[in-house]
Amino acid sequence: MTDMQNPLSIIIMAAGQGKRMNSDLPKVLHTVSGKPFIEHVVTTAQTLSPAQTIVVVGHRAESVKTSLSHQAQLKFALQSPQLGTGHAVMQALPWLDNDEGIAIVLNGDVPLVQSETLARVVNEAAQGKLCLLTHVLPDAGHYGRIVRAPNGNVLAIVEAKDATPEQRAIREWYTGILAAPVRFLKSALARLTNNNAQSEYYLTGIVQFAVDDGMAVTAVQAPHDWEVLGINNRRDQALIERAWQSHQANQLLDAGVTLLDPARIDVRGSLRCGKDVVIDVNCVFIGEVELGDNVHIGPNCVLANIRVGDRTRIEAFTHAENVDIGEQARIGPYARLRPGTALANDVHIGNFVEVKAARIGAGSKANHLSYIGDSDVGRDVNIGAGTITCNYDGANKHRTVIEDNVHVGSDVQLVAPVTIARGTTIAAGTTVWKDTQANELTLNPKQQTTRTGWQRPTKKK
Ligand code: UD1
Ligand code: CA
Repeated sequence: MTDMQNPLSIIIMAAGQGKRMNSDLPKVLHTVSGKPFIEHVVTTAQTLSPAQTIVVVGHRAESVKTSLSHQAQLKFALQSPQLGTGHAVMQALPWLDNDEGIAIVLNGDVPLVQSETLARVVNEAAQGKLCLLTHVLPDAGHYGRIVRAPNGNVLAIVEAKDATPEQRAIREWYTGILAAPVRFLKSALARLTNNNAQSEYYLTGIVQFAVDDGMAVTAVQAPHDWEVLGINNRRDQALIERAWQSHQANQLLDAGVTLLDPARIDVRGSLRCGKDVVIDVNCVFIGEVELGDNVHIGPNCVLANIRVGDRTRIEAFTHAENVDIGEQARIGPYARLRPGTALANDVHIGNFVEVKAARIGAGSKANHLSYIGDSDVGRDVNIGAGTITCNYDGANKHRTVIEDNVHVGSDVQLVAPVTIARGTTIAAGTTVWKDTQANELTLNPKQQTTRTGWQRPTKKK
């Protein structure tokens, strides 16, 4: 996209307050698909390999900047006070020092616009035109209308608030995204005034100047409405979220994934699936999730940044975050897998088992009611119901090592740091605070006694 003669500058407008969100948070920090609007826009912008990306900030500028601090190489322009979209772009002009360049203006409240669509807009501008990204709706609502001459040439964008009834009937609307040669952008912005319903400097006013200058104005149509719908209030936000989720669900179906209900899946990030994956209802996938062939996900699971091997089944109500799961494992129902956990092939983690920062070897099982934290568990280990690794002494965390072929009875406490040697059997109800001997039985001697004649208390009358 960037070449030596026509370097691309991207200007992202993100200075507005977003009054209609009724929120303390600046609008562009609200989220769709689990990420702030502005984060989506910046990430997509970077795919165009621009020479520079300038974010225009104003309302709560510091919090917007902070939210982007992990995004390298952004430039910021401060717009204060905020006098409209044209005024916003004016604040970025000091960064545009090469008049031979191309600039594309993106809207911070149009989060899901796709890279390919933007590339089409930029390509038009690179041919010396002013290019608008537009879309068509039966009722263009509060959006700016694209006014064309009888021969089809674009003449102007008219804001809904300033439109005549005839103009309001126009179905083609402006998405807030345009691209133009920098030289034209500068000269047009210098001519903008604020004679309109809102006394603002409308960026859209520059279309008129292009027409006056005899410059070609073209429009590229966005393929999907979710790409370009602007978010001004919570209803818009909810609508776009649903539209995006249904688009992703359709992509999964097309790729061969079975979704028991495509309307009840949320993917907030990326979900990559192998062959013949089945996903039951109400699952939420967050961040980067990768499922192997023939993986089965039960209903109501929350899975964040996990990798799952072939033929593994994750049963209902499992919660897993930053976890690696091998092949043919069985997880849940009601399992909680916390960050730093790695489960090898054929591991079984059953109901009400919490695993944190633990590696569990192939064929090992913890089927009921246990906490396994900061542990290295070998192969073919059986962990009985109610086993707790006591990893925290109140100040520091310690590791528990359980070697291959260990059998831990029910209701056992393993007080870390401790090593359970290979082949050890631990009797039910044992507290283990010293390393065990391989292939031997470990137990705490206890006596069972009977008190004869003891009376169970009864309620006083
Ligand atoms: C704008 C367009 C409208 C278009 C719509 C598409 C203008 C005048 N109107 O209207 O034609 O159909 O987008 O969504 O451009 N912003 C600033 N500084 C300001 C004002 C706004 O940075 O002074 C930013 C906002 O943070 C937002 C974006 O610009 O990210 C758009 O502003 P907004 O007020 O929402 O414009 P719309 O009324 O939606
Ligand atoms: Ca808007």
